[in-house]
Amino acid sequence: MQSMGNAGSSARKVQISVSRPGPVRHLEGLLLGAAFCFASALVALPAAAQSASPAQPAIASAKVPPSNAQLASPQIEEKVDRLLSRMTLEEKIGQLVQYNDTGNQAAGAKGQPNTESDSSKVVLAINPVTANHIDAMQLAATGRLGSLLNLVGQARTNQYQRLAVEKSRLHIPLMFGADVIHGFRTIYPVPLGLAASFDPAMVTQLAHMSAEEARTAGVDWFYSPMVDISRDPRWGRTIEGAGEDPFLGAAMASAYIRGYQGEDISQPGRVAACVKHFAAYGAAEAGREYNTTDMSEIRLRQVYLPPYRAAIKAGAVTIMSAFNALNGVPATANPFLLHQVLRKEWGFNGFVTSDYTAIMELLNHGIALTPAEATQKAITAGVDVDMMSHFYDSQLSGLIRSGKVPMSVVNEAVRRVLRVKFALGLFDHPYTEGPEITHAVAAHRPLVRRAAEESIVLLKNKKLADGAPLLPFSASVKHVALIGPLADDPGDMVDGSGAGNPTDTITVRQALEERAKTTGGTLVYAEGTQIDGDSTTGFAQAVRAARSADAVVLALGEAAWMSGEAGSRAYLDLPGNQEQLLQAVAATGKPIVLLVFTGRPLVLDWAAAHVPAILEAWFPGTEAGRAIADLLYGDTSPSGKLPMSFPRAVGQEPLYYNQFPTGRPPRGIDLSKPPTFTTRFFSRYIDVPNSALFPFGWGLTYSSFAFSGVTVSRAAIPLSQALTQRGTPLVFATATVTNTGSRKATDVVQCYVRNLGASVEQPVRDLEGFERVTLEPGESKQVRFPLGFRQLSFYNVHARQTMEATDYTVWIGDSSLASEAAHFNVVAPEEAKASR
Ligand code: BGC
Repeated sequence: MQSMGNAGSSARKVQISVSRPGPVRHLEGLLLGAAFCFASALVALPAAAQSASPAQPAIASAKVPPSNAQLASPQIEEKVDRLLSRMTLEEKIGQLVQYNDTGNQAAGAKGQPNTESDSSKVVLAINPVTANHIDAMQLAATGRLGSLLNLVGQARTNQYQRLAVEKSRLHIPLMFGADVIHGFRTIYPVPLGLAASFDPAMVTQLAHMSAEEARTAGVDWFYSPMVDISRDPRWGRTIEGAGEDPFLGAAMASAYIRGYQGEDISQPGRVAACVKHFAAYGAAEAGREYNTTDMSEIRLRQVYLPPYRAAIKAGAVTIMSAFNALNGVPATANPFLLHQVLRKEWGFNGFVTSDYTAIMELLNHGIALTPAEATQKAITAGVDVDMMSHFYDSQLSGLIRSGKVPMSVVNEAVRRVLRVKFALGLFDHPYTEGPEITHAVAAHRPLVRRAAEESIVLLKNKKLADGAPLLPFSASVKHVALIGPLADDPGDMVDGSGAGNPTDTITVRQALEERAKTTGGTLVYAEGTQIDGDSTTGFAQAVRAARSADAVVLALGEAAWMSGEAGSRAYLDLPGNQEQLLQAVAATGKPIVLLVFTGRPLVLDWAAAHVPAILEAWFPGTEAGRAIADLLYGDTSPSGKLPMSFPRAVGQEPLYYNQFPTGRPPRGIDLSKPPTFTTRFFSRYIDVPNSALFPFGWGLTYSSFAFSGVTVSRAAIPLSQALTQRGTPLVFATATVTNTGSRKATDVVQCYVRNLGASVEQPVRDLEGFERVTLEPGESKQVRFPLGFRQLSFYNVHARQTMEATDYTVWIGDSSLASEAAHFNVVAPEEAKASR
């Protein structure tokens, strides 16, 4: 069977050459799977499982205002009406169809690059149903294409746009979507790393910067942000999100939307955002990619939905339906998610695109037996645009003719797409003009360097014999040995987003060499081993280098391709023989700083026990090396905090700080010891403590901070007030934070809340506020966190968001281990009277 296109995620994420190819999704495999579904007599799912409605309607739907005011403009509506009334069915369906750059063969053959850097990657697609070749250019010229994906570059996007605007009957412009997820040319840290900054304002600046860059290359739609909560780092796409916490996830989600879209998406340098993947894709069972998710509606609403909700509230104009099934109903055919939650409850007035071939995959899920059925299920569930399944174009007209899909459903989907196109200003300015940004922008480097610095987390920094911690390096560290496969690896620093160029990247080696030149020190470099190699031939040189040095910097971790889409791992340790290299170097007795590059939490138990200093660097982007050098030498102090728990063993996963207490919490028991009869029958393991090796919110700096005077502004809140004054703070929690060390530094002050006595079990604590605070030595600041219905409510057994008369504890500190606490109660009317 002919390949349908360049389907593998890493290969598709535009034009980054990596030393090792990413996993390529073979569409042939998917199609064979689909064929298998046709052939095998599938047992229909029980009706209850197929019904996408929850047993209890979650929220009585009052009239909810449209989520995006710009899309609701009457002027736009009028234009949409006028255009729609002139469209044929074929042209309408065309707006719902999305392909990648399948070009036309002739163009490629003439040596005209199909994408900016590699025409050989482009092959003709084939429609699995009609067996017709797909020529995206032809479709654009005849009004049968609405948007293109992952096509980058002014020349090629304008070429397509000219066909749509000048050749097609109604001149409707195309949208150009791409996976720009942590920068376009000037690359900043991967989203998980960016979340570690706890700095949404900076995220907004970065997102805006990437939109400005990408717009010059014809991209006007970002498949970003990915806001899926992930509590299991085996799942490779953990790298693309903000980690395990809904509050942090929601803050990051809206920060991206503000940065991409601004107030008005028609303004220069703005793009349409696509929030993904709706919904709960991050809960894939066992962390296995594309796997199913199954959870209570309470958990869905309390933990998984808040970041999507925040993105929609911030005005996101598009959203992507996920690959996974949620409670038995694939998200791409799920009216509960797309109609009830998204449109009815949240007022979403943008459009929904499917994920890549997700409509076709409904066959593999086994909930549709034919392409027609898959199409019918997807569009009636609320999926407006078909990304690459080639189903809407081949099936919809037949479904309309047979009356299986009402015309009104297609009209409404087309309206939603056209609204976004009008709002983007594409009808007035369809072409991209002006200089195209093709490399990292010098003026953007300071911002991405700051982002890298803020994202890096100092996990450990032990005092050495002289009483001072290893970091920052003291003046006596003159000769440094830099060892490891990621020390001089520009590609992995910027992989997975937009169109970053490895040649623009400053590696750790380059930055430390620059510094050695200016400070008169020396740097000796040895690769030691490869990221996933098993040869030990480089070890001897690495050990020699270490012996000759005052201190060693070891740059270990994953290759970027090991995370991201289709990057699930069953083991979470350093790949290959890197830990052996670490042990060999540690045996020299030299002080070691371990730099960990990774897209997910790893198991770092040996390192944590034996290495004095560990910096979690994620994949920091274009300015990786300089940011790391600044931190090593103390030009800046680390301020990142973990957005995900780092486990002691993979068997603890899914591991997250905001877990339920259970009926047998192992309070006061030393879980590092094997159980005895009296310590056994608790919620624990017999072979590893329950706690994370490094917990959520954890991160050290070169100074120290103390917290005191944690108080709340009132001891009791009447329940009636809590339930009626939903938009205003009910109580303020305050604390004084003091820099007790000797350097200026930044701490992320975190506010956690526990709710005891509710009708539904609540987590042991939940993050409900945070603030970055920079203080001089000896300086103090009072921080104040407003706590209102949003922070204090929970979902009851009817999956309704509510508050009850319960007891609250608030902790303020600088990690999820914060211990300074205060208390207040929410009181029912009788209790309120009694306490007067
Ligand atoms: C991924 C999406 C991505 C899309 C387009 C899919 O495989 O799941 O996150 O936006 O491809 O590249």
